[in-house]
Amino acid sequence: MLNTEKTRADFKILREGVKGIIPVYFDSACMSLKPDSVVDAMNEYYYEYPACAGRSSHKLGDRATKKVKEARELIAKFINAKSEKEIIFVRNTTEAINLLANAYPFKKGDVVLIGDKEHNSNLVPWLVLRDKIGIEVKIIPSNADNTFNLDNFKALIKGAKFVALGHTSNLDGVTIPAKEIIKIAHENKALVFLDAAQSIPHQKIDVRELDVDFLAFSGHKMLGPTGTGVFYGKQKLLESLGSFLTGGDTVESTTYTDYKFLPIPEKFEAGLQDYAGIIGLGEAVKYLSGLYFVDIQEHELKLNNYITEELKKFPQIKIIGPEDPSLRSGIINFYIEDTDMHKFAIMLDNMDNIAVRSGQHCVHSWFNAKKIRNSLRVSLYFYNTEEEVGKFITSLTKILKIFS
Ligand SMILES: Cc1ncc(COP(=O)(O)O)c(C=O)c1O
Repeated sequence: MLNTEKTRADFKILREGVKGIIPVYFDSACMSLKPDSVVDAMNEYYYEYPACAGRSSHKLGDRATKKVKEARELIAKFINAKSEKEIIFVRNTTEAINLLANAYPFKKGDVVLIGDKEHNSNLVPWLVLRDKIGIEVKIIPSNADNTFNLDNFKALIKGAKFVALGHTSNLDGVTIPAKEIIKIAHENKALVFLDAAQSIPHQKIDVRELDVDFLAFSGHKMLGPTGTGVFYGKQKLLESLGSFLTGGDTVESTTYTDYKFLPIPEKFEAGLQDYAGIIGLGEAVKYLSGLYFVDIQEHELKLNNYITEELKKFPQIKIIGPEDPSLRSGIINFYIEDTDMHKFAIMLDNMDNIAVRSGQHCVHSWFNAKKIRNSLRVSLYFYNTEEEVGKFITSLTKILKIFS
């Protein structure tokens, strides 16, 4: 069982607060908090060996090279990649998807399937590719409760070249049956990319067990530093990709008229990298490896149940996605018809230091299709407590009274 008190002590902001105020942090789907070990590892880099990795052969550079290599190995092991060569450092999930969309040899007429509630980062790059080279983007309609509809998928997969899906939705926390989807896609000769930005903080990701072809995630949602991310691909597939960002560090040699790319992963890591961030991400992976995902899930479900039951007492509140909290990971996203939920979020923060997110959560396409103005999203992580949920419910009840 998770010892929440002990884990909270690992986060300075939850231990000491800021100017004496400890926030109720319910916005981890946007950005998780960072344990001290992650911040310390980054500071250690900046204070003790702030040098280039992979280039300079002095002692400081050697240490940076070694630490970056260690981080890559830790991440490869964390997702059970076959080799650390399959781990490409990027700034975030968005960059990884852009890399894929631009470097994969798509041709005019290729069909790419995506879901109907993708984050803009897994929608816009495909629509841009449609406009640039003429791929066809087809949308797989979900069930009425936002869960994945396998029949709709099976009806569309024939003839598709590629499937790009959010593993866990940032809109409602629903996780798709990835293994089954990948199996069906492969039987139909289509490759699969999984956007694991919202799944990797909460569940074990084993790329070989899933047999997924490409996958991406952001470090900042899984205890890591901001602006860090990973693009994974099966080695052979990565080797078959074209290029994306090019320049220094991506090439073995150049002449005035030619260039020779380095092998993966360097081929895709253009220019000086965020070494402190990469090292911090390695530390975040170490921290997460010290917890059990079953404990994290059990804890999140307990809190999600609590909030869901309380919200059900207000008939005007509509929860997005399935009613059953066990299908929504750590997310409770809700709205009130014809109401601007930003006002609620601002009041929660101003009155009681409760940080939630309001808006369309980068899933504008879904909100526009459903004609819903915006929503208020609570996103939980293992460091949240029942006491915090209690505070949230009390504060929300006060605000609902003000607006009634
Ligand atoms: C499901 C999903 N995909 C992609 C992204 C984009 O992540 P990033 O902004 O780190 O690139 C997010 C961010 O919220 C997300 O939730």
